[in-house]
Amino acid sequence: MTDWPPRVEIREVGPRDGLQNEAPVAVAERIRLIDALSATGLRRIEAAAFVSPTAIPPMAGSEEVMAGIERRPGVVYSALVPNAKGAERAIAARADEVELVVSASETHNQKNVRRSVAESLVGGFEVVELAHAAHIEAEAIVSTAFGCPYEGDVAPERVAQLAGHLIDSGADRLSFGDTTGMATPRRVNDLLDALERAGIGAERVGLHFHNTRGTALANVLAALERGVVRFDASVGGLGGCPYAPGASGNAVTEDLVHMCHDMGIETGIDLDALIGCAQLASEIVGRELPSALLHAGPRTRTYAS
Ligand code: COA
Ligand code: ZN
Repeated sequence: MTDWPPRVEIREVGPRDGLQNEAPVAVAERIRLIDALSATGLRRIEAAAFVSPTAIPPMAGSEEVMAGIERRPGVVYSALVPNAKGAERAIAARADEVELVVSASETHNQKNVRRSVAESLVGGFEVVELAHAAHIEAEAIVSTAFGCPYEGDVAPERVAQLAGHLIDSGADRLSFGDTTGMATPRRVNDLLDALERAGIGAERVGLHFHNTRGTALANVLAALERGVVRFDASVGGLGGCPYAPGASGNAVTEDLVHMCHDMGIETGIDLDALIGCAQLASEIVGRELPSALLHAGPRTRTYAS
């Protein structure tokens, strides 16, 4: 039998990645969702994004969200930032961690943050400096790490090289995003191989999958088999893909938690409470969400293997 890790750390990204791809919802509803999520045992919640409100209207009001949430002890509330201005706003709003985003492909970076990858790396250094001066950690997220909607395949070596630069810039943590759901288990293994060749082991890797093409949980399984223990997921499968109207959002948190628990992998999360949050998320966005657990419910009986 495969040796899966005994425990994984799931970061809930619904309040940011999920809601950023939905029609804007009220600040009070964003706060309600985050507070419900922090009561499930989740230890990391991506709560907001300090980006241009013109670029991403659903993330306007992120200051108010951070000011309104109940800060549950032991929970890290992080915020995505594209540049130093975003980092300054996140720090002023008392984010516990900032996530700096850089794409592995030039075209996506240009369209997402309107600058070259090289410029983003310089900006990334500033973000790390600001975070460390404020005594918080900075994570670097490499987007389009498994493929780009404009350029197609992205060489795993390029992603690994970029990751190396980000580590050199002082990033405390690294994550790799499958921004538009192009990853498959083969590509997961290829990227982990390239990272390993660059001296970056699975224990330093976080993975962020989208279920756009139905492969999110398969990709998680491939990564678990390689020893990766950090995964992003969004409650209810909130979100979608800005390049694919009607597509599914991130890996679904409750579907992932259900799978882990039955495999004997601890998450620290109360599945029933989480399904309640998925229901709340569905009410907040006013539509059915793609969560399997929300519809099927948890299993009623488990046997030990
Ligand atoms: N938060 C709020 N406003 C910001 C900002 C930030 N992090 N960074 C820049 N701005 C403001 C500037 O102050 C300026 O305002 P002004 O016109 O009132 O003076 C305006 O935006 C333009 O500044 P500029 O530096 O030229 O930015 P830009 O127009 O080239 O946009 C980004 C660059 C990065 C701000 C924008 O593309 C963005 O927010 N992208 C985020 C995309 C995203 O979140 N994608 C999904 C997650 S991967
Ligand atoms: Zn994403």
